[in-house]
Amino acid sequence: MLRVLVLGAAAGGGFPQWNSNSPASRRSRQGDPKAPPASQSSIAVSRDGKRWLVLNASPDIRQQINASPPLHPAEGERHSPIASVLLTNADVDHVAGLLTLRESQPFSLYATPRVLSVLAENPIFGVLNPEFVERRPLGLGEPFAPATRDGAPLGLTVEAFAVPGKVALYKEDAAAGDDWGTVEEDTVGLRVSATGDGGAEREPSLFYLPGCAALTEALKARLEGADLLLFDGTLWRDDEMLVQGAGVKTGRRMGHLSMSGPDGSIAGLAGLAIRRRVFIHINNTNPVLLLDSPERAEAEAAGWEIAHDGMELTL
Ligand code: MLT
Ligand code: MN
Repeated sequence: MLRVLVLGAAAGGGFPQWNSNSPASRRSRQGDPKAPPASQSSIAVSRDGKRWLVLNASPDIRQQINASPPLHPAEGERHSPIASVLLTNADVDHVAGLLTLRESQPFSLYATPRVLSVLAENPIFGVLNPEFVERRPLGLGEPFAPATRDGAPLGLTVEAFAVPGKVALYKEDAAAGDDWGTVEEDTVGLRVSATGDGGAEREPSLFYLPGCAALTEALKARLEGADLLLFDGTLWRDDEMLVQGAGVKTGRRMGHLSMSGPDGSIAGLAGLAIRRRVFIHINNTNPVLLLDSPERAEAEAAGWEIAHDGMELTL
């Protein structure tokens, strides 16, 4: 069995975002139960319930750990059930939490060589003492068994694969043209399963794609038959930040496919056999965060669930 904990359901900025004065953010700050707050993008996965692989290190990770009993220290004077951390890109909402994970606690840190190079060129990440935190490159299309700092496998098999996306905002190269200098290793999706013991015909699989700019035929073929999909739910519609006066960028410009419309993810994934589909990495402008919005009802009627902080999934 795999246990999955949603640590943070929101996109960068969280909900409510610190400087957002939108009606939705105001409702959330006022404690409206139909506008529950959500922290920034991260999940944790475990086979044994004792050692956890954290997928993306959110700026909110301290509060997320405190809110999640399975991640509380449980032995001795210093301890953490977080055995490994894996990054799917170098966005601030996925790497800033590494700074909180200092304090000489051993864990392993997996990312593509490209994402590891971003950490390497920012000396502040040196607070993760290399005597305790080992950085391990992962290769695209090469399933591997994540292991603790000391090499004990977590009982999981992970495969990272490139998905259409964009280089991190602060690494955009304006001179590089339309793709801002994006390379394959900038954004990955993950397939996670329990490592097979030879008994089961097929181990259940979880796909985690918190950032995805487009649905290619190859990606759809990969997702076909998935037991659980956690997918990029940044925006409801491509221009919602402009329409709400919250920003000047479209979802496309940010490297995120929107949920609605004929080109959206709801329509694009509708024909695939996916047992359970959940939107995650949801921006504070997205009305699906509001429990009483017609957009949320529409997504749910189309078979989607909307992730929330503290959501637990098993497969
Ligand atoms: C994104 O998902 O597009 C980024 O997290 C945006 C950001 O860095 O603020
Ligand atoms: Mn993000």
